[in-house]
Amino acid sequence: MSIQSAIKRKTAPDIRARKNGEPIVMLTSYHAHTAALVDRHCDVILVGDSLGNVMHGFETTVPVTLDMMILQGHAVMRGSKHALVVVDMPFGSYEASKEQAFHSAVRILKETHCGAVKLEGGARMAETVAFLSERGVPVMGHIGLTPQSINTLGSFRAQGRDESSWDPILRDAQAISDAGAFSVVVEAVAEPLARKITETIAIPTIGIGASAACDGQVLVLEDMLGLSPRTPKFVRRYGNLGPAIEAAVQGYASDVRSRAFPGPEHVYEMKKS
Ligand code: KIV
Repeated sequence: MSIQSAIKRKTAPDIRARKNGEPIVMLTSYHAHTAALVDRHCDVILVGDSLGNVMHGFETTVPVTLDMMILQGHAVMRGSKHALVVVDMPFGSYEASKEQAFHSAVRILKETHCGAVKLEGGARMAETVAFLSERGVPVMGHIGLTPQSINTLGSFRAQGRDESSWDPILRDAQAISDAGAFSVVVEAVAEPLARKITETIAIPTIGIGASAACDGQVLVLEDMLGLSPRTPKFVRRYGNLGPAIEAAVQGYASDVRSRAFPGPEHVYEMKKS
């Protein structure tokens, strides 16, 4: 039996089948070692273009390139075995035409071996989502707040606070679902609207800052671990690794400075952490 057939990874259809079922657990990861940790507990690992903020310190996700996504997507695939790995299509790699989107998505799938791509936008991207889905590219949508549009939005603000503003977001959700996406991220959307979208569309909704009224949840790993200098208000922290890392670095620096550091008499062996 080949290694490939011995390991069963979750697939886009597996996630699609979770509509109204057990909630979908999704987290971001951008590198092999965190992917291995996340993989044990998550259904989906998102190689988000938030890597532009988290890994590179950019203010927005706009500067992220396709090559950056492919490099980190490949690393996450090497680190994980079970979760479906979804790689974000970065700004500028899919909006010009459905053909451009297909070529970018094919590069992502071929070069990383991941199981699906994610792209931002609702009704305006529906034709592209259908084009990709019909040609063997599983697509996760992303509606509500779409961070790649920051330069036209002006700021990161919650969507659908007033019922009068719900219609375009509901149309976006329906369009992405009808176009054949296997699931959709719903970002920064008020709870009653998130509930209505989840009740209305056929595919699972995965919320971020969109309440528990979704079929699953996603967070940026570094945000929930307390490693990001700034996090959105809705993020619940499950760790506080920033201070723990700083204390460890301080201990190391102090050992080096006081020459209390293991010398060559210690055999260079790897031990499991
Ligand atoms: O890039 C990302 O991490 C994302 C999530 C916030 C959904 O798109």
